[in-house]
Amino acid sequence: MKSALYPGSFDPLTYGHLDVAERASKLAETLIIGVATNPLKEPIFTIDERLEMVKNATGHLPNVRVEKLDGLLVNFAKKIGAPTIIRGLRAVSDFDYEFQMALTNRNLSQEIDTIFLVTSPEYSFLSSTMIKQIAQLGGDISPFVPGEVASKVKEKFTDEN
Ligand code: PNS
Repeated sequence: MKSALYPGSFDPLTYGHLDVAERASKLAETLIIGVATNPLKEPIFTIDERLEMVKNATGHLPNVRVEKLDGLLVNFAKKIGAPTIIRGLRAVSDFDYEFQMALTNRNLSQEIDTIFLVTSPEYSFLSSTMIKQIAQLGGDISPFVPGEVASKVKEKFTDEN
């Protein structure tokens, strides 16, 4: 496929996200990672911090670019000319939400389709929420996120205390 969009909050990016991005970058000629500014979510990292972390972590993938995603996902996908949305599925528990989102997006625009990539089993338990919780409680998150992300998350919670 020509261009695909991998959207997410990436607050923060985990090795699970990176695994999906790496595999999606082999399927699409160009993969755009859309870092979302979701008004319904209160991220710990600003949009600029998340953009920088995602850019640094995917710098080794030559056909990947990282962009700020605001507004409706389907409108953004159309604007950048990427008719395929990529989402990762970690477990059955992800399915309901992802299914609802894919059908909502298809209702909003018939031109945009969603493809799911199953996250590699070694990362299937990872979530940004758990990473934040572990870090906040003083646990080691370095096995789960790239080095720069681990330091930035640690800094965030040190600043807070
Ligand atoms: O990493 P996340 O938080 O699961 O990503 C969710 C995201 C950013 C893909 C979703 O919130 C989104 O699409 N936001 C853009 C607004 C939108 O189009 N909402 C309607 C689609 S359900």
